[in-house]
Amino acid sequence: MTVTANWRGQLRVADIITETPSVKTFRLKPSPGDDAFPFTFVPGQFLNFAFWIGGARMNRSYSISSSPTQRDHVDITVRREPRGAVSRHIVDLLRIGDPVEAGGPVGRFTFDGTEADSIVLIAGGVGITPMVSITRYLTERSWPGEIFFLYGCRAPEDFIFQKEVAALQQRNPKLHVAVTMSRAEGTDWKGLRGHLTKEVFAQTIPDLVSRRIHLCGPPTMMESTKAILIGLGVAPDQIKTEQFGTPKPAPAAPGTALKQTAAATGPLVTFSKNNKSAKVHIDLQSGDSPPKQSVLELSEELAIPIEFSCRVGTCGVCKVKMTSGEVEMEVEDALDSSDKTNGVILACQAKPTNDIAVEA
Ligand SMILES: Cc1cc2nc3c(=O)[nH]c(=O)nc-3n(C[C@H](O)[C@H](O)[C@H](O)COP(=O)(O)OP(=O)(O)OC[C@H]3O[C@@H](n4cnc5c(N)ncnc54)[C@H](O)[C@@H]3O)c2cc1C
Ligand code: FES
Repeated sequence: MTVTANWRGQLRVADIITETPSVKTFRLKPSPGDDAFPFTFVPGQFLNFAFWIGGARMNRSYSISSSPTQRDHVDITVRREPRGAVSRHIVDLLRIGDPVEAGGPVGRFTFDGTEADSIVLIAGGVGITPMVSITRYLTERSWPGEIFFLYGCRAPEDFIFQKEVAALQQRNPKLHVAVTMSRAEGTDWKGLRGHLTKEVFAQTIPDLVSRRIHLCGPPTMMESTKAILIGLGVAPDQIKTEQFGTPKPAPAAPGTALKQTAAATGPLVTFSKNNKSAKVHIDLQSGDSPPKQSVLELSEELAIPIEFSCRVGTCGVCKVKMTSGEVEMEVEDALDSSDKTNGVILACQAKPTNDIAVEA
């Protein structure tokens, strides 16, 4: 598939669909005057959005839930987090006709049918969004492979895309769906109950170890599911995952917590555009090597603006160019080979191992 990368611009909300009491789908179309849709994407990719909320610019990523075969729109499906800054803004306040600033498409959590001859899609909660895009696409393309779609949510009212999944099942005999609910007591749910367990995988997916697996959901569900899959003999590199971001709220000044307990005796970071330098804080108690503080956290402490979204190395919003020195990055999914050749780092992941200079 041809994909346009690095697009940034405005889309407009063309429709809003209520999926569950806390989840809405936003159909995005080009702004009036733009004829063609400005980018193409692979199912499983996401967009990076920027919103101005209370005078602050906030970036968040949302997976595309529609299929790339729909050429005149993309859908994002957003769960309202009870105390979330951006998701509440989107779900409560966005109206049809509103413009939204977006960029992308981004992400490697993709599947278009060329990578394997069958696919297992395991989702929890709002992690269903990239899986629905993939399933819609494969169904519309009459992809001949088997699709095993496993979904876990709390109760029937939280089942996002329930009707859509049923409709896809009607259309696609190769689509096998299993849904389990952890809090279905007192409801009329007739399907599986409880969490996704090894028994559920054994019952629903023949030959599990030979199949490619995509996994996306709440962090605890992803950890336990991965452990189960590996315990069942699945090779770790067969399991592709997408983190939807930090489960913890981003602190007002994320460097602060570490600063209080740690000494600023680490490598020196020079932010060349802002003409500021400071040493990173090292948590001496845990004897960390490399230091725990990231370039992004240090920049926040120094009030140097570096944009960010996921803080987990996935979205690429925090990319900065490093002109000297070395860093270690636990996750660098958002960097491509040209980024790496050009010294681009992810500020949220980068932990300096010696003195560095960055263009920020
Ligand atoms: C690649 C990618 C794809 C994604 N796709 C989707 C998607 O398709 N759909 C979707 O809904 N989301 C998706 N996300 C998650 C999304 O980007 C946001 O992280 C999510 O909407 C929460 O943002 P927020 O600003 O509302 O919450 P934030 O303000 O960032 O808060 C984060 C969390 O902390 C909690 N919190 C906030 N303040 C407090 C507080 N004071 N005390 C206790 N808890 C607090 C919130 O409830 C929330 O759970 C994706 C993320 C990534 C990285
Ligand atoms: S903020 Fe998303 S990769 Fe750093």
